[in-house]
Amino acid sequence: MSQHTAVTLKQDVYRFVANVEEEDIDLFEGIWPIPHGISMNSYFVQGEKGALIDLVCAWEGTPVKVLDQMKEKSFSVKDVHYAVLNHMEPDHTGFLPLLMEKNPEITVVCTEKAAKLVKSFYNIDRIMTVKSGDSLDLGDGKVLHFQEIPNVHWPETMVTYESQSRILFTCDAFGGFGSIEDAIFDDQLNEGQKKFYYDESLRYYVDIVGAFSTFVLRAIDKVASLNLPIDIIAPAHGIIYRKNPMEIVERYKKFATYMEGPCEKEITLVWSSMYGNTEKLVQTIIDGVRSENVDINIFRVPQDHSSYILPAAYRSSALILGMPTYEYKMFPPMAYTIDMFGRKHVYNKKVLRFGSYGWSGGAQKEFEELVEKWKLKWTMVDPIEWEGSPTEATHRKAFEAAAALAREVKQMAAVH
Ligand SMILES: Cc1cc2nc3c(=O)[nH]c(=O)nc-3n(C[C@H](O)[C@H](O)[C@H](O)COP(=O)(O)O)c2cc1C
Ligand SMILES: [Fe+2]
Ligand SMILES: [Fe+2]
Repeated sequence: MSQHTAVTLKQDVYRFVANVEEEDIDLFEGIWPIPHGISMNSYFVQGEKGALIDLVCAWEGTPVKVLDQMKEKSFSVKDVHYAVLNHMEPDHTGFLPLLMEKNPEITVVCTEKAAKLVKSFYNIDRIMTVKSGDSLDLGDGKVLHFQEIPNVHWPETMVTYESQSRILFTCDAFGGFGSIEDAIFDDQLNEGQKKFYYDESLRYYVDIVGAFSTFVLRAIDKVASLNLPIDIIAPAHGIIYRKNPMEIVERYKKFATYMEGPCEKEITLVWSSMYGNTEKLVQTIIDGVRSENVDINIFRVPQDHSSYILPAAYRSSALILGMPTYEYKMFPPMAYTIDMFGRKHVYNKKVLRFGSYGWSGGAQKEFEELVEKWKLKWTMVDPIEWEGSPTEATHRKAFEAAAALAREVKQMAAVH
């Protein structure tokens, strides 16, 4: 089966997919590496009238994939009466101008906030605005119901529920990185794929949605309070959940509450060094953590991308950050890393900092300022700082501090 094959979800409900690979766009959203690609799912509900729910991006070769899959199911753009936009971000709407050029009769369905964006981004005004509780009868028993879920991920977002097929179309919510290949549904994943998509969903969550966890929890509560019978959760990125649709909801809840700490019994170490003096303590620190049999995720900056550091740090109960002083401040890539922790809400961690300086120091001061600035709510352990090369005593102190932190992590009661 080709990766780009239309799939029937339920009678008269189809999924079309466009996978985008790293070589097509380099970085997703201009920042996140996608070595395993990302998929854009678009759904077609056929009543007497047809609705395309969540589109795909405009990147070269992408819209044609959807058009080809429509043909496979004997549809054309002429069968599309409504384009339902749960979310206006261009990865789900880039296709809209081409779609409307091919069929100018299409009516866009979106929230009022999204309508403003549709006009300013695409100069399109054939729009029907909807709000929470509204529905759209497509005929033949197919009815779409709308619920606004603001700020998951932009302010204009909503979800769409089709009541006959009992499918909830959630766009970015419950999505993940990773192209879709042979496995499409949760029940088709083998153990390796389960782990892969789990990891990629956490990376996606922290990178893309991490700043909006409060809104994610609010959206989940809001949709849960509607008591909709849900057979399938159909996100616009990645795997579709039909065997156990609540699994991905629970997973997202867990991700959202990681920001409240304590989280997994793991430590994430991020270190940096110019001339090797800070680096000299890295193995000692790792040994200290491991002496307590606690898992440690290890990254170096700027070598490792924050896209991978963020999910590891976010799910860890404690962090160890190593950086030397540089021009009376922190080594710059570490300042960027802390900036990212702030933006993506890596909150409520127990944190140990270590690093070398030459004559004045200064890294520690800026470190504390940034932690304060970003309101990270971190509990700090006494830092380990030394001049020049670390002594034996510094090594011993570092080993002990790392082991003590690991012991604390083991004793922390996880909130999940
Ligand atoms: C570009 C540069 C700027 C530095 N600025 C400072 C500084 O402002 N204050 C200070 O105490 N040391 C400063 N140092 C000295 C380093 O902090 C010191 O050499 C330290 O041992 C470097 O650690 P590393 O070997 O892990 O890179 C600077 C070093 C470099 C290379
Ligand atoms: Fe988005
Ligand atoms: Fe998206």
